[in-house]
Amino acid sequence: MRIGILTGGGDAPGLNIAVYTLTKLLERKHEVYAIFHGWRGGILDKEVRRVTSKDLIDFAFAGGTFIRTSRTNPFKDEARVEVFARNLKELGLDVIVAIGGDDTLSAAAQTQARGLANVVGVPKTIDNDVYGTDYTIGFDTAVNEAIKVTESFKTTLISHERIGVVEVMGREAGWIALFTGLATMADFVLIPEKPVNWDAVANKTKEVYRDRGWALVIASEGIREYGSPRDEFGHSRLGGVGNELAQYIEKVTGLEARAVVPGHIIRGGVAPTAFDRVLAIRFVTEVFNAIECGDFGKMVAYREGDIIRVPITEVLGKNRLVDGYWMKLYETHWGGP
Ligand code: F6P
Repeated sequence: MRIGILTGGGDAPGLNIAVYTLTKLLERKHEVYAIFHGWRGGILDKEVRRVTSKDLIDFAFAGGTFIRTSRTNPFKDEARVEVFARNLKELGLDVIVAIGGDDTLSAAAQTQARGLANVVGVPKTIDNDVYGTDYTIGFDTAVNEAIKVTESFKTTLISHERIGVVEVMGREAGWIALFTGLATMADFVLIPEKPVNWDAVANKTKEVYRDRGWALVIASEGIREYGSPRDEFGHSRLGGVGNELAQYIEKVTGLEARAVVPGHIIRGGVAPTAFDRVLAIRFVTEVFNAIECGDFGKMVAYREGDIIRVPITEVLGKNRLVDGYWMKLYETHWGGP
């Protein structure tokens, strides 16, 4: 078979290992093609190239995505769908493996539903918000990077006796903020799932400050939207809430506050952690199994330690949010008086 692999949406550490390992498994029996720039590669320029694992090994353990990415929606309008369908036919791909978040996977589901190609999906996003899987490729590395930034920031907060706010990525879900907050035992964590009054944050930080002379807050970027331009999937650009919150705390408490926004630094460039490497390898091994038995229209997922396959249509249009046990944990540390 002719099998294409693409990565879509924000990049995430672990993608290169996924593409490399899948290529290595598939090339035993099939022709493998890299579809460059996510769905855009398939629809606009037919940026599709035959690859071997040897082409990919040098980049396999680096962050980012060697085959590039985009936030292109091939189903944005019917004219585009026609081009997409024509190009796919010309390329003659039997199967497309789409590695991405909700947007990329929803395009995969439509590709399958319209009979344009068979697809298998792999969940990735540092936000860890793909429904139906406990973990996505990139989350663990991003959290580890956010922890490093926070620890570094903390030393200067202590020296100068200030209040600090770290704004981390996390559009719909507060997983990165929650895990970073837990791992650094922050004094307050703000996540999109649990709106809190900023006065409560200011009061808490003031109290902590009085006790020990500094305080640390972790905030998810998704707690506030600023109405900036939207991408092809309708998402606005986030970022900026950390500074706003620090200024608010300063105004209310009269204490000096600073914010840092590591932003894309926790997402790009860095080598994936062992967890993300093994997760990526386990995911694509299951993709290989799915292809070998002709089980299409599925996303591979991590559930309670196992790797399973779920219909892509079951996971679309919703996010995996902080709830249940994780929300209780959040509330135990930051929810009460
Ligand atoms: O990858 C997901 C995500 O990191 C979101 O948390 C963030 O809002 C968004 O991507 C930013 O992406 P970019 O600025 O690269 O479009």
